Amino acid sequence: MKRIFITRPLPAPVIAEAEKHFRVEVREKTTPLTRTERRAAMALYDGIVPTLGDNFNEQVLQGGPHRCKILANFGVGYNHIDADFAAENGICVTNTPGALTDATADIALMLMLMTCRRAAEGERMVRSGQWEGWHPTQMLGLHLSGKRLGIVGMGRIGQAIAKRAHFGFGMEVAYFNRSPKKVDVPATQLKSLKTLAANVDVLVISVPGGTNTKHLIDADILAVMKSHAHLVNIARGDVVDENALITALQTGQIGGAGLDVYENEPDVPAALLKLNNVTLLPHLGTAALEVRTAMGMLAVENLRAFFEGEGLPNPVN
Ligand code: GLV
Repeated sequence: MKRIFITRPLPAPVIAEAEKHFRVEVREKTTPLTRTERRAAMALYDGIVPTLGDNFNEQVLQGGPHRCKILANFGVGYNHIDADFAAENGICVTNTPGALTDATADIALMLMLMTCRRAAEGERMVRSGQWEGWHPTQMLGLHLSGKRLGIVGMGRIGQAIAKRAHFGFGMEVAYFNRSPKKVDVPATQLKSLKTLAANVDVLVISVPGGTNTKHLIDADILAVMKSHAHLVNIARGDVVDENALITALQTGQIGGAGLDVYENEPDVPAALLKLNNVTLLPHLGTAALEVRTAMGMLAVENLRAFFEGEGLPNPVN
């Protein structure tokens, strides 16, 4: 039986499914693998199920051939894995798209509402005993229905966000995508990210992370946004220049932000914690038991298909 290493505890049905096919070792810690653990895992196991923070970069993957021939990532984003270098060294990389599209789009809508309607600030007010009762001009936020939404990255998750925003909230949707993309939601593709940023009330980021998108949202993009507009990031923290965002929020250059991801997770800059016009979630995008189970099942299915010589459901390299 092939030996598989699962780098975090996963829902029980996933482990049970993996154990039907493989000799499985589950690491009980919830933190990312250390470099020593990553190197050891490459030598000890036939396949690994890594996830967010398990940095399988060139330094870890070099010096093969390794025993490990497949990194079946748990999650859709695989910016922590050097997939090109892995391919050059005969290591297959897969991910788990589809299983998490709706859950992640839901979190985007939640953050849009939370930041526009000041939900977290209001909750803090109630909990702190500061609420003096309803009055007509208290805690006025931005009305979301019917506003213009800009989506950066119109992949599966971007389209699921567009659907919810258009059909659920009557929003007018425009988007920026590297390549031309036809979608089945009424939405307009714009050629320039700057034009998109300048013309929307809410800008949502749903591009993959990695070197191509690092600081795609920088001071220049934030500078053209409307002063009442909100930025929402459910993708990867480093797509947004966090320091530039802090300045834009501090100076009122933009209305607010909703963040599920950060540049150096789990560190959240103290300057962000101090601000009332930012909603901060702890990377909850896929955090629902059935979603995490479906993601795990897909990772196991990729491993099974690989070792049984079938076509891979979700190859990325
Ligand atoms: C979670 O962030 C994922 O990439 O699946």
